[in-house]
Amino acid sequence: MVHTNVRTLLSAEDIAARVRELGAEITREYAGRRLVLVCVLKGSFVFTADLLRQIDLPLRVEFLGVRSYGEGTSSTGVVQITQDLTQPIEGDDVLIVEDIVDTGLTISHLLQLLRTRMPSSVKVCSLLHKPARARVEVPIHYLGFTIEDKFVVGYGLDWAERYRNLPFIGVVEAQ
Ligand code: PRP
Ligand code: MN
Ligand code: MG
Repeated sequence: MVHTNVRTLLSAEDIAARVRELGAEITREYAGRRLVLVCVLKGSFVFTADLLRQIDLPLRVEFLGVRSYGEGTSSTGVVQITQDLTQPIEGDDVLIVEDIVDTGLTISHLLQLLRTRMPSSVKVCSLLHKPARARVEVPIHYLGFTIEDKFVVGYGLDWAERYRNLPFIGVVEAQ
């Protein structure tokens, strides 16, 4: 791969092992429920694709297109829905699947939004959490890894839309 300037933080094997554990946990806890995974685009598409194949239950998957407003690299928490769910979630057990919780503003907004649609439950599954930058407290019921305050890319996460196709998660280093 021509990504020699990216230092590996979590290898593809590290990620796969943790995703298997999360899938097993979700399989146990959602047995007999009406599980709907909500993949938050774009970052979460790779994680969601791997996670759902580790969940041994009937489930639905929905995609939520989200655009953060604001200048610079940090989100303002004002998120615009660019693509909504295709079906109602009333009475369903919704699990929001995110690649990373950073300031928490995106998840906080999505929790508020989805709760207005009267699901039975709404929980959060995030592959990564960067607590150093938290601005609002949000629950993360299923968490892959806690990471330090570095800008990470790969496995769905981008830097200016690049690096999403890296099979591992890493930190971009100056060349
Ligand atoms: C990133 C990431 C989360 C959000 C987390 O998405 O995928 O959705 O930011 O940040 P927060 O906790 O500070 O709100 P981004 O807005 O970069 O869009 P993308 O998923 O399309 O890359
Ligand atoms: Mn995102
Ligand atoms: Mg992004």
